[in-house]
Amino acid sequence: MLSQIAIAALLASVAASPYDKRQSLGLVENCYHDFAITFDDGSVGSEYDLVDLFNENDSKATMFLNGYNYNCIYEQDSVDRIRNTYNSGMQIGSHTWSHRNLAELSEAEIDEQVELVNEAIWKIVGVRPKFLRPPYGSAPEWAVNYIQEKHGMVVVNWSEDSLDSQGASTDESIGIYDGFTDTTEPHLTLNHETYEGTPYTVMPSVVPSLVDRGYRLITVADCLDLEPYLEVGEPQERDETWTCDGKPAPLGY
Ligand SMILES: *[C@@H]1O[C@H](CO)[C@@H](O)[C@H](O)[C@H]1NC(C)=O
Ligand SMILES: *[C@@H]1O[C@H](CO)[C@@H](O)[C@H](O)[C@H]1NC(C)=O
Ligand SMILES: [Zn+2]
Repeated sequence: MLSQIAIAALLASVAASPYDKRQSLGLVENCYHDFAITFDDGSVGSEYDLVDLFNENDSKATMFLNGYNYNCIYEQDSVDRIRNTYNSGMQIGSHTWSHRNLAELSEAEIDEQVELVNEAIWKIVGVRPKFLRPPYGSAPEWAVNYIQEKHGMVVVNWSEDSLDSQGASTDESIGIYDGFTDTTEPHLTLNHETYEGTPYTVMPSVVPSLVDRGYRLITVADCLDLEPYLEVGEPQERDETWTCDGKPAPLGY
């Protein structure tokens, strides 16, 4: 009797612990440790160059991808690029299907925005992302909780913005990174692979400089000591479902 209770309690605590940790997260705004550089709004062509830069500096980045934004995720060049990014050890996260403001959506529309891009990433690389970056950093508390409880995903904002999408010059963005000096302080920064200055001027300066200054550039999952993916399987072959036709289109900016 007692031993059955003890075993049941043990099993319950083993089964419950990752969920307890996940549900206590709420909106994540920073790493627990080290430095995570994140890129939103891709995948676009510059992602190849970002992946090379991080690889050549023994570093990792996290890409929060859209399904249908600057392009359609199912286009073959996007498929090839995302596979390269994943195979290079970068983390793939969700930035929703078509970059909608979560505050303006119903629960059913959030389901669609979450599931369509997770399904695409599942087909393309064989993983379901665990992390979601809300478009515009807009995520009311109900949406954060809903996405965690319904979809098991962690909603991640940022601790510092490179301001690349806010009109900052490349010098200003570099200055933000150069201002970080205490390597014991964690950082989780926002950048966009879609602004040319970010992959081609800011990151080539910032990444080697941060590494030289003793920062470890790691994925969002690693800086939070969590798994990057809800599920890991195998990439699939293209079929007639690999299309953006009939799925929510981007609204524009
Ligand atoms: C970082 O990458 C750049 C460009 O690929 C390379 O020139 C540089 O040597 C690398 N730096 C380090 C510290 O690995
Ligand atoms: C995310 O961070 C930005 C910049 O600090 C802030 O404006 C926004 O409100 C944050 N999002 C949430 C959901 O707190
Ligand atoms: Zn975005």
